[in-house]
Amino acid sequence: MDRQQTPEILDYRNENGHGWYFYINDGVLRDVSTNPEDDMEMIRNVQKFELRDDDVIIAAYPKCGTHWLWEIVTMLRTGNSEYHKKKKVIAMLGMPKFERANELHSPRVLNSHLYFRHLPEKLAEKRIKTIFIMRNPKDVSVSYYHHACGLTQHICFDGTYSEYLDLFLEGKARGGGYVDYLKDWQKVKQDNPDLPILTLFYENLKKDPVKNIKTVADFIGESVTDELCEQIAEACSFKKMKAADTEVKEAFGNSSDIWKESHKGMYRKGEVGDWKNWITVAQNERFDDVIDRTFEGTGIVFTYE
Ligand code: A3P
Repeated sequence: MDRQQTPEILDYRNENGHGWYFYINDGVLRDVSTNPEDDMEMIRNVQKFELRDDDVIIAAYPKCGTHWLWEIVTMLRTGNSEYHKKKKVIAMLGMPKFERANELHSPRVLNSHLYFRHLPEKLAEKRIKTIFIMRNPKDVSVSYYHHACGLTQHICFDGTYSEYLDLFLEGKARGGGYVDYLKDWQKVKQDNPDLPILTLFYENLKKDPVKNIKTVADFIGESVTDELCEQIAEACSFKKMKAADTEVKEAFGNSSDIWKESHKGMYRKGEVGDWKNWITVAQNERFDDVIDRTFEGTGIVFTYE
């Protein structure tokens, strides 16, 4: 997009006024939580961001288990099961002030929800190891709905899950279309077979954490014992990570101000299949129909329980 051009603002709120405004940057739907000019500038700065040869980056659509995986990979790289004192957000490309990631010692574990083309150009040039994690769309929608409702700011969602689902299935929720994001990464992998990209599923990590942690260790070239993988799996269980988030991690900026008091933070339930408590039979049929149509040909098979 032309640097000088002011992008068109798209009003994707529903008839109750619930939802968000967006603009399109380089084919990607971006919500207008900051003004588009600042957002575009931030993305240009991310693209220019200097990567270190030994960086690892985690890429995911929001609510696919980024915090969990970040802690696991961080532990693997330090060779113990101690929590990093900082919250994952310090290493997040795509947040305002993302340059703070430069304060981290090497080896760094970065993370982002950005599309590949908005990530640092050095990622491809340096063949930075990238771990991509996916989760079944139904649990993603429920998780993201709660996340969106928990915010205090203008990006907070005040509607029902049913209203949220309508927007999510149309790709008009924050984060844009889940299927678009996954397809884009799939294409990146196909077009760049020499890029080191490991793909994981949240559900597999939940079912067999030790095996998946070992797979990650092999991918990033860390030689680890089975015992360490077990210790990391235990330290990164939902319950322990939830406790560590308040008991061990340092507060980050004004992050406490952006969440409502009642909100359960980033650690809500951590389960596979919670969607069944939220999605009606009719909604489920509709969801399946959308998944069948939009994921056709991707070969991606999700686990729902
Ligand atoms: P729920 O809302 O379903 O509980 P992200 O980190 O990408 O924002 O993803 C957040 C989701 O991952 C939330 O899902 C959160 O509870 C879950 N999660 C965080 N840590 C987890 C862990 N250690 N084990 C399982 N799920 C975890």
